[in-house]
This record gives sequence, structure tokens and C-alpha cells, in this order.
Amino acid sequence: MSDAASTRSGRLTVVVGITGGIAAYKAVGVARALVRAGHDVHVVATDGALRFVGRPTLEAISRNPVHTDLYEGVAEVRHVALGQRADLIVIAPATAHTIASLAAGLAGDLLGTTVLASAAPLVIAPAMHTEMWEHPATVANIATLRARGVTIVGPGSGALTGEDVGPGRMSEPDEIVERALAVIGPHDLVGRRILVSAGGTREPLDPVRFIGNRSSGRQGVALAAAAAARGASVTLVAAHLEVPAPAGVEVVTVGTAAELEAAMAQHAAEADTVIMAAAVADFRPIAVAESKIKKTDDGAGLRLELERTPDILAGLAARRRPGQRIVGFAAETEPDDDALLRVAAAKARRKGVDLLVVNRVGWSEGFGTPTNAVMLLDGDGSLVGRAEGDKASVAHRILDLLA
Ligand code: C5P
Repeated sequence: MSDAASTRSGRLTVVVGITGGIAAYKAVGVARALVRAGHDVHVVATDGALRFVGRPTLEAISRNPVHTDLYEGVAEVRHVALGQRADLIVIAPATAHTIASLAAGLAGDLLGTTVLASAAPLVIAPAMHTEMWEHPATVANIATLRARGVTIVGPGSGALTGEDVGPGRMSEPDEIVERALAVIGPHDLVGRRILVSAGGTREPLDPVRFIGNRSSGRQGVALAAAAAARGASVTLVAAHLEVPAPAGVEVVTVGTAAELEAAMAQHAAEADTVIMAAAVADFRPIAVAESKIKKTDDGAGLRLELERTPDILAGLAARRRPGQRIVGFAAETEPDDDALLRVAAAKARRKGVDLLVVNRVGWSEGFGTPTNAVMLLDGDGSLVGRAEGDKASVAHRILDLLA
């Protein structure tokens, strides 16, 4: 593990979950690397794990008692206490069975209750035979966990138990630890209050129809999760998210631009930083029909009259408290970078933001994808950075600039 990873995070309480696969012997290296990096490590091992690696080894390496049993320490409510205290949970190896249990939210053992009781980032390192890794059940479970914000490290390809070779080999302990600490990032936002909007608003035409947009909310959710992981207290104003809201943040659900505006105005009062990642409708129907609009027999079309919605971001920027920072997003269809930057720079100045996150969108770009590529402009419209990668790392880069 790099020194940067070890010094960045301060002393963390890390739960290392070990489940029953042959790679459990390598989990000793995960616990050891975390202890060496100065973290307080608590091992939760399943019964299966203890068939592969001994409790005394894990206790000596982690320097703490090893927990296995749901019915031990009941008086101190251990089944949830570990999860509540954890800053980070790393499960290595994660067997196909464990991955299925996590995807289903099962709480039948101490590791399951610990994960469910925790708002901490979860990092798992799968290890299993290739056929099990490639089975549609495992593929679907992994997709569920990813959508929930779980970081999946590996598996690598190589020698498996017996004669088999292929994908399914647990990543090396140093890589797992490095990735896990990178997920949590520095604990540099403790005491900060961050308000994030995410998703896309829908403006009703009648009780069954709306005008909406293709925003999935992934980038805003990643920002909320990253800010919470870095210690901020986060409120997420969520409009029609396609992904689950992260654990450990306060969620305010809204539907329309007007509801989003009201929620933002209310919560901005206490926020140090306001991030408007939501795709807000620019226009809405002037009148909403009380009942479903019917087709007529003469084949006539329908003319809709729309009015402008308020620019929520510009309003928040104009009324910002002293010291409060305002971040906006701009999703543009300009094909080349120069044109994109010109449009975005004008937008940054017009809206009065401190930071504008700009990305290109199109028919096949920018929406619903797990990755993003953005340019970051300051309030004068000058380019101050770029970020590219999965939406979690883009979120951390944005927060780095704010921190
Ligand atoms: O003007 P444009 O829609 O491109 O600006 C995008 C930014 O402005 C985003 O941060 C979005 O959340 C915000 N916005 C808003 N109110 C609107 C439209 C967009 O706050 N009515």
C-alpha cells in the first residue's frame, strides 16, 4: 500500500469481514496492512472462514478479539454495534454465498447484521471458481451491490483451488487495502453540512403523464456518498433516482421543480455547501389537467403550453449566506471542448456559482452510465480542473476542490 493511502485517512475503525473460501488465508494480509497503516481493525469471521484460518492468527494480527457469533456480546448489542462504529467495512474474501446474502440484505449472521447496521462504505473482494463468478445469479448480485454503491475489488484471473485457472482469484491484499482506503478518502469534511440535489424532476401534464429528463441521479448520489464518507453531514434532495440513496445521509424526496426549489430553500439555510446536481426542468405545463387528457376521434394533435421554471441554482447563489459555497452542474451537447467551455464559462458567471461541473451529454453519452468525464470551472469561468472515471472518483475530485 502506498504511504499516501496510509496517511490520508487518519485512524479509522475498520471491520474486516472474512468468509469461507480458501482465499481466507490471504485475508490475514488485509488485516495486517490495515493495522500497519494505523487503523483499528475488528475481524468478523464466519464459521466457514475459521475452517480456513485460525482465530489466534487473526487476533494476533488484528490486535483485537475476533467476532463470529451473533449471540455473543448480546448485552452490548454487538450485532449492530460494530457496524455503527465502523468507518469502513472490507469483506475479503467475499464468497458467492456472501455476495448473494449481501445483495438480498440477509441478516442471519454477525457479518450480515454488521453490514446492515452500518452507513460506512463497503468494499468487497470476491473470490470463487470461474463458473460461480460468471453464473447469472452472481452477475446479477454484483450488479445490485454496485448500484448500491458497494466497491468491488477484483477478482483477478489466475490459479484457483485445484487445477483450475481463470477469473475468480481474490485480488492481492495490498491492492484491496489501497482501493478500500481510496474509497473512504480523507476524513476532511467532519463538521461540514452539505446539501446535494440529485436526479431529474418531472412536471405533470395530467395525473398519469409528465415531462421529464434522462438523469439517473448517479453523479449526485455519488457526491452525497463521498461527502458522507469524508465525514460531512449530508442532506440529499432526491428527484426520481434510478439508484438507491446512500446509507447515512438524510433524504428528502421531491418530484417537481417547485418541490425541489422549496426543499433546497429550506435546507440551504443550514448548509455550508450546496451542490445542485439535479437535472431540473426548465419548462413546465402552465396548466395541469385534473383528469387524464383524452385522444379525440378526429385525430387532432395536442398543443402544450409551457412556462419557465425558476432557476433554483441562480436563486440559491444570489441569496447565499456569507461563506456558503454553491456548486452547479452543466450538461451540454456542444461537440467540441472549446465550444463547451465557452458555453459553460458564460453559465458559471450568469448563475453566480463558485464551481461549475461541466459534462458533455448526447443521445448515447452522459446519462445513466457508471462513469463520467467532467471539466471544473470556477466562478469566473476559468478551467480549474478535470476529472474522469467512475462517478465515485469524480465525486471525490469535486470534493477535493471544495475542501
Ligand atoms: O441552465 P442549466 O439548466 O444548464 O443549468 C444547470 C444547472 O442549473 C444545474 O446545476 C441545475 O441543477 C440548475 N438548474 C436549476 N433550476 C433550473 C434549471 C437548472 O437550479 N430551473
